[in-house]
Amino acid sequence: MPTVKDRFLSMLINSTDYISGETASKNLGVSRAAVNSAVMSLRKDGYGIDSSTNRGYMLTSRPDRLDAGSIGAFLSDDRMSDVTVLPVVDSTNTYCKDLAGKGAPQGTVVISDCQTGGKGRRGRSFISPSGVGLYLSYLMRPESGIEKISEITCWTAVAVCEAIKDCYGLDSQIKWVNDLLMNKKKICGILTEASFEAESGTINSLIIGIGINVNEKRADFPDELEQIATSVSIENGEKTFMRSELAAALIKRLDRLASGWPDRHEEYLGSYRRHCITTGNRIAAFTTVAGESEPRTGEALSIADDFSLEVRFDDSGSVTCLKSGEVSVRGLYGYT
Ligand code: BTN
Repeated sequence: MPTVKDRFLSMLINSTDYISGETASKNLGVSRAAVNSAVMSLRKDGYGIDSSTNRGYMLTSRPDRLDAGSIGAFLSDDRMSDVTVLPVVDSTNTYCKDLAGKGAPQGTVVISDCQTGGKGRRGRSFISPSGVGLYLSYLMRPESGIEKISEITCWTAVAVCEAIKDCYGLDSQIKWVNDLLMNKKKICGILTEASFEAESGTINSLIIGIGINVNEKRADFPDELEQIATSVSIENGEKTFMRSELAAALIKRLDRLASGWPDRHEEYLGSYRRHCITTGNRIAAFTTVAGESEPRTGEALSIADDFSLEVRFDDSGSVTCLKSGEVSVRGLYGYT
């Protein structure tokens, strides 16, 4: 349930004029004293709120904070009832998985300002500092088998590109299979985790985890990631971008994905192909054989109908379809 403070913040964000104390207390169904205390608490969080004796309250400045009030300003109250916003958590995927186990419905969302044990693909960790990134997990309960999971991950990459475009008007690209890039460096990773029903092989719950580097500065990345990772801010004049607005835009795009699955296959495939910058490039594919990573070089030709990558390898000259999960792909000239 959103608090009085959250709901008042949403009202302030959506109002271009002063809101009188009386209107606020009536709309929120609380006393004037409760409105006053919400104002004081919001000011402590860094929100600029002007108060004028005759006119009431108006928002004059807004920090980049991820809280339920600033996300809820862009979503309905009904939608927000399935959204949990936390200041810190080990992993939003783990928290969301727990909710799924307790019967949470499709569309349940967990967002955190910071993760202490953020998980990446292939058992790696995902560095998730506070105050700069967006870490979001979305629960889906698709009626499909295990083989479809990688397609949902590809649809998600499209949904993230679209949310960034909706919200900030900025273009991003997809590096096969599901990294998002700006200027050829990674701004977002996606980790999808599923639990299955053993007998039927169908998916019980699917947790789509998305980590976006929004406002990191160059110094926030360790040296070994300098050539690989970047943030939306770094690539766009070091401006500060509002993470709450991106969170809301992403939830809308993920809702559209979940309701369109699997029927909108052609639409997502077309959009994936347009955003994908792996095709047409020389690549090296790494397959782990007995613990050793063995690169094979070739040319990435196209994205097949099932989102696999068609590659003509130099050694055999034949075309092979790479499925996500079995290989990782690097560009021969840089990360892409
Ligand atoms: C990758 O690029 O390796 C995938 C990174 C996925 C990170 C996100 S952040 C939100 C969600 N919670 C996690 O623990 N991981 C995913």
